[in-house]
Order: sequence, then structure tokens, then C-alpha cells
Amino acid sequence: MGFTQKHLLGIEPLFPVAISEILDLADRYVDLNRRSDKHSDILAGLTQINMFFENSTRTQASFELAGKRLGADVMNMAMQASSIKKGETLIDTALTLNAMHPDLLVVRHPQSGAVDLLAQKVNCSVLNAGDGRHEHPTQALLDALTIRRAKGRLHRLNIAICGDVAHSRVARSNILLLSKMENRIRLIGPSTLMPSSIADFGCEVFEDMKEGLLDVDVVMMLRLQRERMDGGFIPSEREYYHRYGLDGEKLSVAKEDAIVMHPGPMNRGVEIDGEIADDITRSVIQEQVEMGVAVRMAAMILLARNRHNAVLDAAQKVSI
Ligand code: NCD
Repeated sequence: MGFTQKHLLGIEPLFPVAISEILDLADRYVDLNRRSDKHSDILAGLTQINMFFENSTRTQASFELAGKRLGADVMNMAMQASSIKKGETLIDTALTLNAMHPDLLVVRHPQSGAVDLLAQKVNCSVLNAGDGRHEHPTQALLDALTIRRAKGRLHRLNIAICGDVAHSRVARSNILLLSKMENRIRLIGPSTLMPSSIADFGCEVFEDMKEGLLDVDVVMMLRLQRERMDGGFIPSEREYYHRYGLDGEKLSVAKEDAIVMHPGPMNRGVEIDGEIADDITRSVIQEQVEMGVAVRMAAMILLARNRHNAVLDAAQKVSI
């Protein structure tokens, strides 16, 4: 069956076969992206609109490049200068854009659930590029592709997700995806940065980094999401780094070939030591960025296929 959805709003509704279909197609686009001629016209004629209501560097750049490399007409809405600033609601803006017949709407919004709501009001496919602390599905997919390529598989791995789990949509989407693929997940961090619903996640929880990192295959670090904190969640950044910042000593208890991940943007010296982040024998942080473009290409092709059967043949025929 594969990925049959009209929208990509989260990992939650996806079956493992749907996840695998996206990753398999993305794998092929990694090769295209490494060529000097990166152009395909598989989405030619389609219009992609990016609406980012929150700051973004890599996610927005990667969605834009993905659309352009596939031949779509890509428009980035300058949300700071949009009518939202004049008091128009999110839904009115969406309906206005919908009347211009876009095919793909890529949306990032600070409120959890806002992107789902918007998807109910428009005719086109909607991609969630991060909504509040809810979901960030393409980040989890690009992380999964990075792990699968580094480890040769995406099941039966011990994966530690460390730091500010409570405020992180990246953690949520990753927990959902990696559990569906039958991995063992450990969450490591201070109890103040663990969600209150932690028991529902079915993960092991550790407050001590070295206990939690023992023999893991993958170490996924998270940024301290200060913009979502409204009080004193940590004593100080120094203290936090001392207890939870990933450095060589803490990493030494993980498996010898354990990989280090971070979705970016990184706070060096807060959640991760700069040397570890730059150590290309351990860190796959740059690969994550590379996989991001390929995963977004694959997701957009499959959404277009699910809506327009015409693209179906082209997607199946794609030869790279
Ligand atoms: C993440 C996000 O925006 O949720 N960043 C990203 O998409 N690369 C994580 C973060 O901001 O810490």
C-alpha cells in the first residue's frame, strides 16, 4: 500500500510501509543531489507555497531547494510582511492562497495543531514543517534515512534522545517513527524537561547521561528550546552542559561506532561540545542536512502522486 495520504501532517498516522516508501524514494534522490545537474522536471507545472510563521534556516532552505530541483514553481511567503500582520487570521490567509490553486503548501507554525486545521480548509496537499511542540514529520524522516544509511538498518537499534524532550516536536516525531520501526528508545534529560505524558511514550527514561548512553547505537541531541520555556527549567546553562551536554567522556560509554545527531540549530557548549559536533568519525549532523533535501523531494513527489494520477507514472519511471 505504501504512502497513500493526501497530506503529511505527522508521523502518527503512518504505517511502517508508508515510512519505508518515502525513505526508499529519498535514497534515490540523494544520488541526484550529488550530481552537478540536479534537475528533474517531475513536479513541473505544480505550484509550491512555503509559509513559515517561525524562523527557520535549514528546513525552509531545504523545502525550497527540493521543490526547485523537481521543477515546481516555488514561492516563499514573507510572513513578516503578510496580511497576518494586519490582523488576518491564519485560515483567511490560507483560503486566499488556496484560491490561487497551489498544489503543495508547506507550513510551519508556532501553535500545535495549526497545520492540521489549515489542511482541513484547503484543496491542496499540506506538509507540516513543524507545528509548536506537536510534530515535525520531515525531520523524523530525514533522521531515519540518516540512521538507516549509517547503520544499514532501521530496526532493533538502541537510540538515545537527549535533552529538552518536553518542548521538542523533533523528539515527538522521532519517538513515533522509531517506535513504529521497532527500535528501543531511551529518553535522557532532567525531569523538568520531560513531558508530563512521558509514560504514554513507552520509552525508558534516564536522568543520568552515562547510564542512559550505555551501549547505544545512536545519540540524538536536542536543542534547549528556550522560546518555548516560560520559567526556570534548568539551573544554568553551565550546569546543564556539565550534566547533559554531550562531550567525549559521556559519549565514551556508547557503542564504539555510535553516531551523533542533532537537528540544528545547535547551541555549542550548551547541549553539545563543538568538537564532538565537528568530529566526522562520529557526527552525522551534516548528513542529516543532506538527507533533508532528499526526504522532502520524496515526500512532495509522493503527495503529488497521491493527488494527481498523472504524476504517478512519472514518479515510478524516475530514473536517476
Ligand atoms: C528543529 C525545529 O525547528 O523544530 N529544527 C529544525 O527543523 N531543523 C529543532 C529546533 O529548533 O531545535
